Amino acid sequence: MKSLKDSFFRVIDYLRISVTDRCNLRCIYCMPPDGVRSFDHDDILSYEEIVRIVRIAAGLGVRKVRLTGGEPLTRKNIASLIEGIKKIPGIEDLSMTTNGMLLEQHAAALADAGLNRVNISIDSFRPDRFRELTRGGDLAAVLRGLGAARKAGLSPIKINMVPIREINDDEIPDFARMTMDTDCHVRFIECMPSGPNGFWAPGKYIATDEMRAIISRIAPLSPVRVRRNGPSKYYRLEGARGVVGFISALTHHFCSDCNRLRLTADGKLRPCLFSETEIDLRSTLRRGAGDSEIERLLRLAIEIKPKEHHLDAEGAGNGVDRLSGKETCLKPEKRPMSRIGG
Ligand code: GTP
Ligand code: 5AD
Ligand code: SF4
Repeated sequence: MKSLKDSFFRVIDYLRISVTDRCNLRCIYCMPPDGVRSFDHDDILSYEEIVRIVRIAAGLGVRKVRLTGGEPLTRKNIASLIEGIKKIPGIEDLSMTTNGMLLEQHAAALADAGLNRVNISIDSFRPDRFRELTRGGDLAAVLRGLGAARKAGLSPIKINMVPIREINDDEIPDFARMTMDTDCHVRFIECMPSGPNGFWAPGKYIATDEMRAIISRIAPLSPVRVRRNGPSKYYRLEGARGVVGFISALTHHFCSDCNRLRLTADGKLRPCLFSETEIDLRSTLRRGAGDSEIERLLRLAIEIKPKEHHLDAEGAGNGVDRLSGKETCLKPEKRPMSRIGG
């Protein structure tokens, strides 16, 4: 089977696709209260364009596709995109990252269309706090969505929790305990400085080492290997059915294992979450380019994928744009996380 390596010998087999930059929530670490201006309809790739890109990418060795947003379930008829991608030979794992608000009504159709699994963002199990953190989210609806996903056979279900100091960090043990009697993967993510201006500060994020120390007070934690591991490092609490995971975006970089490319909703290929280098696929597609030209740009994105990002616990994010050779600095206001797809 074909596989493609970047200049640092990493196999690139995972494409994360942001299908929309719109979101029905405004999580405090992701968006300003009024949201961000959304792309116009014509700016975003059509499903036909996305399916075509995935087909060409699969020919280069992409095996795993994730649909993200904004909130992917706010885009109309997403099940038809899932059907289109699922038919592509070579795609073995098709997943979605969602806030779960609309999952209850969509879960069965998503599974029927061929979606394998979902990652659901939940940052609090307290309804009032959840509403405040997401600026309007309904925890009960998300939990019903989780139940519907389980019923539809979407598996494994992964829960993403971003602890923020003095805001929801007191719930870390409750989230970890959830793995005792369910087979969920509960993942704790270091809060990254990619949200609205002025939100992030070094004191706000919780390092995964600190999270692990808190959780190991519940019961002993042992490392486990999980197949098709992403950036998360997994552990099991003694006697638990599920696993806990830690995504250390700031304190333990996982760049040396990075296997992904990103496609933004407006059709830019982004080799790294934290580098502003982008390749404009949309204009090339809409100029009537043949498959070989699209393939060339996908290969270029893999070739210029940077070795690592330079974000750390101080939030600094300088790097070099491997297309122009110029220094770049991460500026969330230029392309916020909701426009990249997490
Ligand atoms: P699986 O493990 O395959 O289920 O997916 P995932 O963890 O890659 O996907 P998900 O969308 O649930 O992402 C979880 C968290 O990891 C989010 O906060 C992402 O922003 C973060 N993340 C995903 N990919 C990267 C990456 O390449 N670099 C960094 N720093 N963070 C990432
Ligand atoms: N830091 C950490 N995780 C974030 N996410 C969004 N913004 C941030 C941030 N600044 C997470 C969401 C979701 C995933 C796609 O990315 O909680 O689970
Ligand atoms: Fe929406 Fe996800 Fe951002 Fe929350 S983190 S506002 S759910 S895109």
